[in-house]
Amino acid sequence: MSRSEGVLCLFLAVLVCGFTAATRRFLMDESGDETLQEAYAAIRDLDSRLQTVMADNDRLRERLESTETALAGQSSTLSSVQRDVQNMGSRVSADFVWYDDDWMLAFRATAGIGRPVYDAWTDVGHHDDDPMTRATLPCGCTTVNGSLPCDRHYRSRLLDLWPSASIDEVRLVLYENGTEKEHLTFSGTGSDYMSWFSQERLVESSWTDLKSTTGLNYFSIAGHPSEGRRFFINHAYNSCPNDVGWLVVKDKQSETCDWGHVLHVPAILYAPSNHEVTWESFREADVMAVFVKFRASVDFNQMCLN
Ligand SMILES: *[C@@H]1O[C@H](CO)[C@@H](O)[C@H](O)[C@H]1NC(C)=O
Ligand SMILES: *[C@@H]1O[C@H](CO)[C@@H](O)[C@H](O)[C@H]1NC(C)=O
Repeated sequence: MSRSEGVLCLFLAVLVCGFTAATRRFLMDESGDETLQEAYAAIRDLDSRLQTVMADNDRLRERLESTETALAGQSSTLSSVQRDVQNMGSRVSADFVWYDDDWMLAFRATAGIGRPVYDAWTDVGHHDDDPMTRATLPCGCTTVNGSLPCDRHYRSRLLDLWPSASIDEVRLVLYENGTEKEHLTFSGTGSDYMSWFSQERLVESSWTDLKSTTGLNYFSIAGHPSEGRRFFINHAYNSCPNDVGWLVVKDKQSETCDWGHVLHVPAILYAPSNHEVTWESFREADVMAVFVKFRASVDFNQMCLN
């Protein structure tokens, strides 16, 4: 029963009982007029009591409404507090850049910016994911799309930590305009930030001949320093025109071979197919990214390891 229905019932009950008493008195009295006056007075009395009850009712309703408004205000404050807490949580986990849920961005080399990739990779202590450094980091640098603005190589502090017991796999991917062109997957457990990049650790690659080819003269991050050939995967030197390989990051323009005279540095040169090529027929990627996947037991929402 609603409040107004309650009030109405009360009114009817009072009306019926009161009126019945007055009516009874009226019927039993010979001087009918006076009794009628009494009955009118009783009705007026009832009416004024009803007005009082209704006024109380209105006051109650107002209080209820203002309480409801206050409550709504509080719950919107509460949900904004909850939102803030959630945002803080996602900022913390977004402290590292993730791809496809499982892969954390450890490094991104940007072609053509005039700074050597190798120097950035080995720049121990430089972390583009430090909060203060991030404040000046173009968002393009946290993507794999070389068509978005980025003026540097992105180096995560993960490179210096390299928690090799927790690292499952390391993946190197070449991109053009945000599209994946080639990839290599390495086993990361027990490696360090330089040694994971090796043929022994290679698990699989879009270059299907890479794992099985023997006698490679280079497969290392350091590569061939005097020629500025880094992240170098090469099968053989055959006096320049017939040099064959899969990947090289050219960090400097001076070169012995014609194929290495690139228009800009760094240049990310690769065999654009599923097998090695002579360097005369390489192609250029605009981004080279290195990702790390952690073992399934690693939980970044935990403060510590159980
Ligand atoms: C990148 O790809 C988009 C379409 O996916 C195209 O419109 C754009 O021209 C491309 N940019 C470059 C630099 O290739
Ligand atoms: C990369 O960025 C360019 C420029 O914004 C865009 O046109 C292109 O579609 C992007 N590529 C991918 C694969 O999203």
